[in-house]
Amino acid sequence: MSDILHFLQQRNSSPKLTDPAPSPQQMEEIFQAAMRAPDHAWLRPWRFITIAGTRREAFGELLEAALVKRNPGADAAAREKARNAPLRAPLLVVTVVTLTEHPKVPPIEQRLSAGCAAHGVLLAAQALGFAGVWRTGDAAFDREVMTGLGLGENEEIVGLLYLGSRLGNPKPLPTLNCADFVSHW
Ligand SMILES: Cc1cc2nc3c(=O)[nH]c(=O)nc-3n(C[C@H](O)[C@H](O)[C@H](O)COP(=O)(O)O)c2cc1C
Repeated sequence: MSDILHFLQQRNSSPKLTDPAPSPQQMEEIFQAAMRAPDHAWLRPWRFITIAGTRREAFGELLEAALVKRNPGADAAAREKARNAPLRAPLLVVTVVTLTEHPKVPPIEQRLSAGCAAHGVLLAAQALGFAGVWRTGDAAFDREVMTGLGLGENEEIVGLLYLGSRLGNPKPLPTLNCADFVSHW
């Protein structure tokens, strides 16, 4: 089997991440790969916001404030969890879809393209020996969070990509039977 095929078949997420994260030069390579996502009419409907170092703490404060606004009764544990969430990895890449009106490219296609770009970030990071995990949750769909990150009204968060170096061994991967997912018409 080709190395590339084997790599694609073994891709997996890592919930536990530590230093080092990809360097700015490596992130450039990663974004170049991600931006080869299929893209109807070449709209480039994605953009990426990196959050590293102490900015993760500022993002944690934004997540906590948004949580309290969504749920004024949030207890101390929930608030702490929200505040500390960005500290689970040395680097976050918020993948954003920028929706534009186009006669042939409906919003679903633009969201799918941006999702492919997010997948590309994870694949390229793993190709460079790093690891990551794609997360969302209520915060990712919260306009308060989006506004705090500088998103416009025509933009949405596709994923919060946590990147870094894998802590621990990769989990065993399930074997999926193609026959359960593939039919021939
Ligand atoms: C759109 C999207 C949102 C996700 N959100 C979360 C999340 O909030 N929390 C989480 O633990 N996993 C989330 N996941 C799943 C993980 O990224 C990952 O795919 C899952 O843990 C399975 O691991 P694997 O990718 O190695 O198979 C999300 C995946 C996608 C595609």
